[in-house]
Amino acid sequence: MTPLAASDTKTVRGAVLRRDPAREDCFTLVHLHQDMQDYGDMTQVSRRQRLHQHMHNEMQSLEIAAQCLADFPDSSWDIRMELARQCWDETRHTQMLYRRLQELGGRKGEFPVMNYEWGVTCMLDSLVARLALQNRTFEGGEMDLLRVLVEMWRNNGDEQTADLLGGILADEIQHVRFANQWLKRLAKEEPRVLLQVARAMAHLRAITAALAPQPGDVNAAGVNLTGYTHLDVFANIEDRRRAEFTEEEIAEILRQEGFAGLVSHATTA
Ligand SMILES: [Fe+2]
Ligand SMILES: [Fe+2]
Repeated sequence: MTPLAASDTKTVRGAVLRRDPAREDCFTLVHLHQDMQDYGDMTQVSRRQRLHQHMHNEMQSLEIAAQCLADFPDSSWDIRMELARQCWDETRHTQMLYRRLQELGGRKGEFPVMNYEWGVTCMLDSLVARLALQNRTFEGGEMDLLRVLVEMWRNNGDEQTADLLGGILADEIQHVRFANQWLKRLAKEEPRVLLQVARAMAHLRAITAALAPQPGDVNAAGVNLTGYTHLDVFANIEDRRRAEFTEEEIAEILRQEGFAGLVSHATTA
């Protein structure tokens, strides 16, 4: 790809990120998690905020996949077709969530938005690194989260949103799977690919550390970010298998989550 110019980037707390994609005037763009309005509960305003944020994240996923097509025009036809199909899926996800947001009385631009995944992923200069980060890591994590969110919306009496999220999850599995398949094939042919993946993960760790909330940081909805108890989201083993993570990779995720004792049972079940 053509090297990025300084005008293609922005600096936030010392971390260099890809400059934000264009947004309609109705959106308020922020650059730190603490400037988001995450409520952490299921009040009506929080439901709209969750749908709004998810809608915007799907739009970012579309833009990241589309930017891969633009930045790496010489990549193989197969992987370009997968990325093009992903663009179609992410567009549909955005539209479905936008429709649901409106049904619940919300509107586009009602809450601040942040292009975190875009800013981190689109700095990387190889398709391998971007797929490792966006599809395998961010969307892999989204698979785990979606499984929890489906139940959360259902338990709060909103079957329609729960079903919508279940449908999105099915598509996300395919986005993670094609990245896993392609990365594994390439790593076999060219072991140097593993170094690009390792560099991508180091890049993510550095930026996560730079942008992490500081003790006492309160977000735009008044929630204390470091004192807040996050939803328990653990590896969605079934879907990670469907997305072709190996048993060793799933075991490693479980170990990182503190379930070392369960590893042999969980991954051989
Ligand atoms: Fe999606
Ligand atoms: Fe996706």
